[in-house]
Amino acid sequence: MKILVTGGAGFIGSNFVHLLLNEQPDLEVTVIDKLTYAGNKASLDGLPNNRFKFVQGDICDEKLIDQLVAESDVVVHFAAESHNDNSLREPWPFVETNVVGTYRILEAVRAHDKRLHHISTDEVFGDLELDDPAKFNDKTAYNPSSPYSATKAGSDLLVRAWVRSFGVKATISNCSNNYGPYQHIEKFIPRQITNILSGQKPKLYGSGQNIRDWIHVNDHNVAVLKVLESGRIGETYLIGANGEKSNKEVLETILELMGKPKDWFEAVNDRPGHDMRYAIDPSKIERELGWKPGYTDIEQGLKQTIDWYTNHKEWWQPLKDAVEAAYKKKGQ
Ligand code: NAD
Ligand code: TYD
Repeated sequence: MKILVTGGAGFIGSNFVHLLLNEQPDLEVTVIDKLTYAGNKASLDGLPNNRFKFVQGDICDEKLIDQLVAESDVVVHFAAESHNDNSLREPWPFVETNVVGTYRILEAVRAHDKRLHHISTDEVFGDLELDDPAKFNDKTAYNPSSPYSATKAGSDLLVRAWVRSFGVKATISNCSNNYGPYQHIEKFIPRQITNILSGQKPKLYGSGQNIRDWIHVNDHNVAVLKVLESGRIGETYLIGANGEKSNKEVLETILELMGKPKDWFEAVNDRPGHDMRYAIDPSKIERELGWKPGYTDIEQGLKQTIDWYTNHKEWWQPLKDAVEAAYKKKGQ
């Protein structure tokens, strides 16, 4: 079995490739990744050469994608521009990669009749009020807020249309906020951990009351494997680990685990259009595919993540100054 993983040098994709090659000895994996600022080949170090191939390339490259899809049995599509803050600064790469790139992949899997799993986000549903008892499920209407979430919503709708109109064998999953090793330090949790490791105060947007539904990246990827093994074609599976926490609560836990006072942070400018709360109802994937999260204790998961960033300074330190300089320009 040959699996093509798009965006495999990014955070979730690289963790997925490690999981696949460690747990499934009969698989061969090809990664296609453009190595944008968010991709890092070092995240794929140590993989078995005889079963792993890396191709640097763009998912919008029609010819390359057609060829790689033709050579594979299954495509797992992670590649995307993924950071909301960047999408507010410069939306075009999001439209190009997330919408046009997904279109290219759909056309290739259609031409070669290959199985596709499309990775998406709960942000396509917009946000919930803090006191709303509702959670997102696969019937929730799409209502994206940012250029990032709008382009991910667009890509999901393309996948649905290609399933219905052309009989493409695709599934979709929408997951909540991931944390864990190899996450780019522009994102909330690794930014704060690496700030503390660099002697800088963590930066909290606005009041810090916004809620995210945290899941460990490994739990997300195990759920994706379940969908590949036994998900029903055309279905959408929501993945979440009942991990709702306010940003302030998460930050206080990180500060405590790293031996700093609870109030050792700076309140910085809020994100325009900042979604208030995300929350996933994971009962469909639990019921239909028997998936359950392994990391039920976020404090334990955060401790492991802090240890990883503490022990892998060479992976993130070269990026730190430029990431912080870009945030500083926006008062964040
Ligand atoms: P990431 O930014 O860490 O990685 C994205 C990868 O895609 C990078 O390696 C980048 O080089 C590559 N890439 C970007 N444009 C490309 C192009 N045109 N061609 C080929 N490769 C390209 O992102 P991530 O956090 O790992 O997210 C992966 C996927 O999971 C995305 O589709 C995202 O929407 C989705 N997702 C992320 C989260 C989260 O919390 N991070 C939650 C739910 C869903
Ligand atoms: P982020 O990791 O960018 O993920 P998303 O926008 O996909 O939810 O941000 C998570 C939350 O943390 C979000 O509510 C914005 C907030 N945040 C901060 O408070 N400070 C920061 O430095 C960053 C990057 C994010």
